[in-house]
Amino acid sequence: MGNCVGSPAQVDTFISHPTSGASKALGISRTSHSSNLSSSIFTPSGKSSSQSLPTPRSEDEILSSPGLKAFSFNELKTATKNFRPDSLIGEGGFGYVYKGWIDEQTLSPSRPGSGMVVAVKKLKPEGLQGHKEWLTEVNYLGQLHHPNLVKLIGYCLDGENRLLVYEFMPKGSLENHLFRRGPQPVSWATRIKVAIGAARGLSFLHDAESQVIYRDFKAANILLDADFNAKLSDFGLAKAGPTGDRTHVSTQVMGTQGYAAPEYVATGRLSARSDVYSYGVVLLELLTGRRAIDKSKVGVEQSLVDWAKPYLGDRRKLFRIMDTKLEGQYPQKAAFTVASLALQCLNPEPRSRPKMSEVLEELEKLQDLKSSAKNSPARYKSSMPSPIKSPLRNPRSSLNGTPSASPLSSNRRSPRVR
Ligand SMILES: Nc1ncnc2c1ncn2[C@@H]1O[C@H](COP(=O)(O)OP(=O)(O)OP(=O)(O)O)[C@@H](O)[C@H]1O
Ligand SMILES: [Mg+2]
Repeated sequence: MGNCVGSPAQVDTFISHPTSGASKALGISRTSHSSNLSSSIFTPSGKSSSQSLPTPRSEDEILSSPGLKAFSFNELKTATKNFRPDSLIGEGGFGYVYKGWIDEQTLSPSRPGSGMVVAVKKLKPEGLQGHKEWLTEVNYLGQLHHPNLVKLIGYCLDGENRLLVYEFMPKGSLENHLFRRGPQPVSWATRIKVAIGAARGLSFLHDAESQVIYRDFKAANILLDADFNAKLSDFGLAKAGPTGDRTHVSTQVMGTQGYAAPEYVATGRLSARSDVYSYGVVLLELLTGRRAIDKSKVGVEQSLVDWAKPYLGDRRKLFRIMDTKLEGQYPQKAAFTVASLALQCLNPEPRSRPKMSEVLEELEKLQDLKSSAKNSPARYKSSMPSPIKSPLRNPRSSLNGTPSASPLSSNRRSPRVR
């Protein structure tokens, strides 16, 4: 794995369309190359991800990572009240996620309602690929620790059963907050906070001495704690970055349609800048409240990037695509900064995209500015640099023939490239 080739990569492309959360591989295989199905995974070894070179680890080594508990299936059955439907908190392409309770000290199952709350992900039987992604997740999250990565508490490998036990993230995923109709729309300040948290997580992965490419950055994989601190989850597709003078690794095209970088989808060449592209898509979702892909729309509006791009570099047009759920409650200057950052992240040329650390720096400046200013909507208005019409006056305005910035009417999930 991780071969760097000069010619277009041989890749397998699997495109799947999750229906009600279930990922079904359509199995569009372009070639037969599948080198990353090896049972050894190259990862940063040792406790500090930034001080050692990637080393392959065997399954046994991965599963005996210090700090990870090996749960039995029965223990997790007890912790989740026998995986009862009322414990179900979510469903993704690879399985169901249940709420469970364990004792904080011993980590053994405790009475529901007592002890520590955990999220237990139970994988649907997925064969070799499912096992590989499960193992990759245990491998990375068993070694990488950062406030903006979700904490893996343990796992279960019991016959056909594969489970993962995480810290519980009370506010669920960013996807749920941005796109599901709820009583409380996500405020501008919270959107910036989430963007910063997620950028910190990605920067940590990219800047580790043994770089890690996350490969599945999207709103569904950004989980939120009670204070809207963002943590990246789902490391099943994570991959060691290129080493030496290499600019990319060549690999199967995996990820989620609408978020995956175009050069990666076209050639299988994966780099940290592919994650930067996906980050740009999430910035667009935060600005517009629209999903990366929305099949309920027609034409260019189906693709958030294609639809939004023409508005991102123009201060006077930007308000037309801003999320109407914000009701104009955002500082226009900051929104333009975020839009400009998104545009840079979405540059078709990977080398022209900024590094995550640079993106983070820019976003942190916005937050610093905000904390040194009074945070009222009136203040937002008075900070407008040019005579742009306040979206407050006309929150739903859109020019004739231009897309409206309406909240989505559809909750359909984007298809997954697998
Ligand atoms: N640690 C957690 N704490 C709280 N809720 C969680 C946790 N992990 C997952 N969830 C919930 O379960 C849902 C499903 O997560 P999962 O990772 O299985 O799928 P997904 O990321 O939505 O989609 P997919 O992985 O198929 O692309 C999440 O959207 C979230 O609401
Ligand atoms: Mg996920």
